Amino acid sequence: MDITFEQVGFCYQKNSPFETRALQDVNVTIESGSYTAIIGHTGSGKSTLLQHLNALLLPTEGTVTLGDRVIKAGEKQKGLRDLRERVGIVFQFPEAQLFEETVEKDICFGPLNFGVSEEDAKARARKVIVEVGLTEEILTRSPFELSGGQMRRVAIAGVLAMDPRVLVLDEPTAGLDPNGRKEIMEMFATLHQTKGLTTILVTHSMEDAAAYAEKIILMKAGTVQQIATPREIFSEPDVLTDLGLSVPDVVHFQRRFEERFAVKLGKTCLTIDELVGEMLPHLGKGVASQ
Ligand SMILES: Nc1ncnc2c1ncn2[C@@H]1O[C@H](COP(=O)(O)OP(=O)(O)O)[C@@H](O)[C@H]1O
Ligand SMILES: [Mg+2]
Repeated sequence: MDITFEQVGFCYQKNSPFETRALQDVNVTIESGSYTAIIGHTGSGKSTLLQHLNALLLPTEGTVTLGDRVIKAGEKQKGLRDLRERVGIVFQFPEAQLFEETVEKDICFGPLNFGVSEEDAKARARKVIVEVGLTEEILTRSPFELSGGQMRRVAIAGVLAMDPRVLVLDEPTAGLDPNGRKEIMEMFATLHQTKGLTTILVTHSMEDAAAYAEKIILMKAGTVQQIATPREIFSEPDVLTDLGLSVPDVVHFQRRFEERFAVKLGKTCLTIDELVGEMLPHLGKGVASQ
């Protein structure tokens, strides 16, 4: 399902002395089946934007369109259940929400709540546990006996068990070690490809944004500063550093190389392989001997 934000604004505790503006004049289109990363400084409105994607928050200004569902500011909303089924959100540290005695019960909780039969819910649990890289044996265990990485996978399995069409991820690798992070990111890439899931990832990792996203939304103080491909975004590293953000190491290295040898490579490289390919002709011209 396509997602559009038109002139969307959002204030927490509107019309109270504690009113806080979190989004302003946000215009965004996210195409069905695409992979989008959202980056921006802490407090720039990323999590607030995410919560509009399944109507956990409703816009205080403008219109959010989610597939065939139009949500206009100020209008009463009914039947948001359907939307909650189609859009799965993996919140930060999702394992904190595990609570059942067994992994299976935890995974089945959402589907059962949405009227799926017990038999179907259990079948879903067996399917999704494998999709998150665990095995069926784990279903009978207590989620609290598992490692941190396994708990996170179980929590993600609980979201997948709802069979969403859109998967929204709020810093899903926070707190994991580098190997765990890579595995989880690869898992989401596989889910995106095999299930055709529209994937929306909030991340602090510019490496991940560069490696996985087709488009990046750059947020600044509640507004969308830029929407572009990773190559376009990382071609202007100064914009990012001014916002207190970094660029992927490979982009940083390319810049240093270009400065040091007064050359300009053909494009901003997002992977080491691309960079090697672009550097080779320059090395051949004697740059290496300087
Ligand atoms: N529940 C809340 N109540 C009041 N203000 C909030 C709440 N959640 C976030 N904010 C404020 O809204 C702004 C955007 O926050 P958030 O969407 O969490 O940003 P990010 O996810 O990019 O760090 C910040 O100024 C933050 O302090
Ligand atoms: Mg956040």
